[in-house]
Amino acid sequence: MSTLDDLRSALSHLRRGDVRAAVDELALPMRAEQVRARAQQVVRRTWMKYALRGVRQNDAHGRLDLAYSVPDPWHMDSEQERHRFLETNRVIAERVAPRLGTLLEVGCGEGHQSEVLMRLCDQLTGIDVSPKAIERAHRRLPGATFAAGDLYAQPWSGQRGRFDLVTACEVIYYMSDRPRFLDAIDALGKACLVTYFAPAAKKVEAECMAMPGARKTSFRFADTEWVAVWWQGSTAR
Ligand SMILES: C[S@@+](CC[C@H](N)C(=O)[O-])C[C@H]1O[C@@H](n2cnc3c(N)ncnc32)[C@H](O)[C@@H]1O
Repeated sequence: MSTLDDLRSALSHLRRGDVRAAVDELALPMRAEQVRARAQQVVRRTWMKYALRGVRQNDAHGRLDLAYSVPDPWHMDSEQERHRFLETNRVIAERVAPRLGTLLEVGCGEGHQSEVLMRLCDQLTGIDVSPKAIERAHRRLPGATFAAGDLYAQPWSGQRGRFDLVTACEVIYYMSDRPRFLDAIDALGKACLVTYFAPAAKKVEAECMAMPGARKTSFRFADTEWVAVWWQGSTAR
């Protein structure tokens, strides 16, 4: 907010014909940027409310794809999410392995987190039920492999120990049969890591922590907290 003094001095700059000084006095470019960012946030939230209507733990793949009619619908290109990506990498490096050969990322979206996960592995494979998101992920990261569809529709679905690590970050909430999914990644990965928004713990935590040898930690950005659960896959136990 401008104080009355700011307005008075802007007015006196204008009286002298110094428009630039008046603009500086009121910090107008910064205020315009704040208004634009706020407007974008309101539009994105309104869109997601519409697109994700009826989306619960019910494999609503069509609506998830609809959400991607706008770019970056979850605002992954934000300070908060970048912090989450770095923290997730830290947990992997410290608790799973500092370096991995192959990594499967389930629910990779447009590849924002894939870009950060790629720092830890030689070869990243990302899958997502949204073909729109996968097309953008391909364009963002031509060095990775991406495929549209869920875990059960992939040619390697039944291969035990196929990946050094399988991650499922912020995705488990959308699935109707989480125990089946957790068993599937337990077979596919030599290690597995699931992350979820802390308030969702009452819905998903018991199932994740029921995986053999599962351990958990958490990390935050301001008031937002996430939980990471990891364990060794069945071929490594
Ligand atoms: C909230 S976004 C998270 C994106 C990314 N994992 C991250 O943490 O930044 C959830 C993503 O999971 C995808 N998704 C939901 N159910 C899925 C499933 N059964 N298999 C693969 N992807 C799924 C959605 O399309 C969406 O791109």
